[in-house]
Amino acid sequence: MQYMNISQTPSPTFYVDKIPVYGDAILAPMMGFSDLPYRSLCREMGSAISYTEFARAEGLIYNMRRVSEKLIYREDERPVAFQIYTHDIDYMVNAALRIQDLRPDFIDINMGCPTKAIANSGAGVGMMRTPLKVARLFKRLSRELEIPVTAKIRMGWDDCVNYKLIARIVEENGGALIAIHGRTREGGRERAANWDVIGEVKQLVKIPVIGNGDVKCVADIEKMKTHTNCDGVMIGRAAIGNPWIFSGKDRDEVNFEEVQKVMSEHLDRNLLFYGEELGINLFRKHVVQYLAPLHTTRRYRRELLTRENREEFLELLAQVNENLVR
Ligand SMILES: Cc1cc2nc3c(=O)[nH]c(=O)nc-3n(C[C@H](O)[C@H](O)[C@H](O)COP(=O)(O)O)c2cc1C
Repeated sequence: MQYMNISQTPSPTFYVDKIPVYGDAILAPMMGFSDLPYRSLCREMGSAISYTEFARAEGLIYNMRRVSEKLIYREDERPVAFQIYTHDIDYMVNAALRIQDLRPDFIDINMGCPTKAIANSGAGVGMMRTPLKVARLFKRLSRELEIPVTAKIRMGWDDCVNYKLIARIVEENGGALIAIHGRTREGGRERAANWDVIGEVKQLVKIPVIGNGDVKCVADIEKMKTHTNCDGVMIGRAAIGNPWIFSGKDRDEVNFEEVQKVMSEHLDRNLLFYGEELGINLFRKHVVQYLAPLHTTRRYRRELLTRENREEFLELLAQVNENLVR
């Protein structure tokens, strides 16, 4: 008689409605960074959910190529969350219904973006100033969609710190998860994110809560979980040029050969997804981040940033190792 090895069937860390999530570290949605090439790489290295960069609902409805492209994903990235934003309930619901056909696992509503043009129009964190609208929006989305809908929020809008009210509204109107960044709209990046508010939301609602803000290294993941009891931890800036954080390794534990291997894989994914010219162009900002912790000479950094094709780039990268300033 054969016995099943229980250790081979890990139980989910939490569920988004009925969707199991395995793992507690998640790459944050980041415009310009959490695109398919980098997202899929992070997912392979342990990020538990693939959130797309945010996409404007109107752009999806009018089928704008650059916006729709953000929602292309790989099957092995699941669970996949499409993140969308707008200030208008009808546009949001129509866009959500339309993109549901692309079979994401859930749709996330951005209520955290502080960029003036977005927030001042009533979208992003601007939506948190209109709680009744949030209630109407989530009621309609949870009724009309066949897949779960979730929210990414902040503490609030400066003098209107209403994350508890908004969290309750999201849950009461059918939301399946809340991710919260422990800052207000203006809560400058020089001030530490407030993790207490993540713990307060976790105590308040029954749906899963993902904490976000200032997780800088592997140990911080556990620290935030212990401090807040949150179900998952979302990592933004510290994951740029550092997908290893999702496999439990800090950058100083990663040797140059591994950096070289991952950069080459990332570049290949960029070229495949965007084509030769745009792929290498968009890769440059990642190069800066990958190399930041290494003591490369300025000359190499500059030359790497001006390479025009894959072969030249990889050849030069191979030389970096011998020329690290030690
Ligand atoms: C370059 C950049 C782009 C971002 N784009 C998005 C986005 O598209 N959607 C979103 O919800 N948040 C976005 N954010 C916010 C992050 O998801 C995250 O909430 C924030 O960076 C705080 O987490 P951190 O301290 O780990 O960086 C962005 C942040 C950065 C730095």
